[in-house]
Amino acid sequence: MNEVTVSSPATVSNVVCAFDVLGFAIAEPCDTFTLRKTSKKGVTIINRDNFNLPTEPEKNVAGVAILALLKEVKEESGFEIVSNKIIKPGSGIGSSAASAAGVVVAANHLLGNRFSKEQLVEFAMCGEVVASGSRHADNIAPCIYGGVTLIRSLNPLDIISIPAPELFVTVIHPQIEVKTSEARQILKRNVPLKDAITQWANVAALITGFMKSDYDLISRSLEDVIVEPVRSILIPAFDKLKIKSKEAGALGGGISGSGPSVFMLSKDLKTAKKVETAMKDVYSKTGVEFHTHVTTISQQGVHLKTK
Ligand code: HSE
Repeated sequence: MNEVTVSSPATVSNVVCAFDVLGFAIAEPCDTFTLRKTSKKGVTIINRDNFNLPTEPEKNVAGVAILALLKEVKEESGFEIVSNKIIKPGSGIGSSAASAAGVVVAANHLLGNRFSKEQLVEFAMCGEVVASGSRHADNIAPCIYGGVTLIRSLNPLDIISIPAPELFVTVIHPQIEVKTSEARQILKRNVPLKDAITQWANVAALITGFMKSDYDLISRSLEDVIVEPVRSILIPAFDKLKIKSKEAGALGGGISGSGPSVFMLSKDLKTAKKVETAMKDVYSKTGVEFHTHVTTISQQGVHLKTK
């Protein structure tokens, strides 16, 4: 096999209270990457989308991830990447992770699946550093593993898949850009103990809520007293979005990753669509353009696309 095409899902990281340690894959939108194995060393990137991302491998998230993987490959080989991205960079739904994770999973297929999922996460994280200036796996891990994943530790890597009930996800993507690196820089370096206590109680309860399919507990735990108060000022009408989505029946939600996208979880499709209508109502009054998605948490991470 010399060529594969993969579908790489968008992801929601942080999941409100679990900054940098929790994320989940969503069924839509997904990026598509076609990889060809070449005997020529190195990486060639061909963009078939409209995002104008750099084609020099060292400056491209996917390129850097593949270069990290190639360092561990003994034989002379390289890859040609044809990129068909749909997930807009800087959207907050894991665009860079979809690129980095998608291409390393595809390359691994072409190399006879010699690397473990943990190794692929390590390679993909090198790409994530280019996008955000920091190593974090809360988009990469769910993108590769699917479902809800917890990253207990990065060094050594310790990733745990968390069982969760079927949940519907409404995402609003305001068409403004929030750079992850900047959204990280504005965070406070120190956290009062009382806030830390609230936060880790919520993280533990959220995981328990997922594992017990306890929707009320999930709803009560979707509270962030550390990151959201700082970052939400970057997102127009954030408080209103939350209030109106809850009134429409959402369990809760908040900033997706570092924003500007905002997500809400719902128990059923009908509610998720009502939440979408509520979000659209709020945003149509802001003058900011936006896109919405109604989707589900997806158990499928990056996977081969059959023609
Ligand atoms: N956990 C990261 C952050 C996700 O919030 O900065 C963004 O890629």
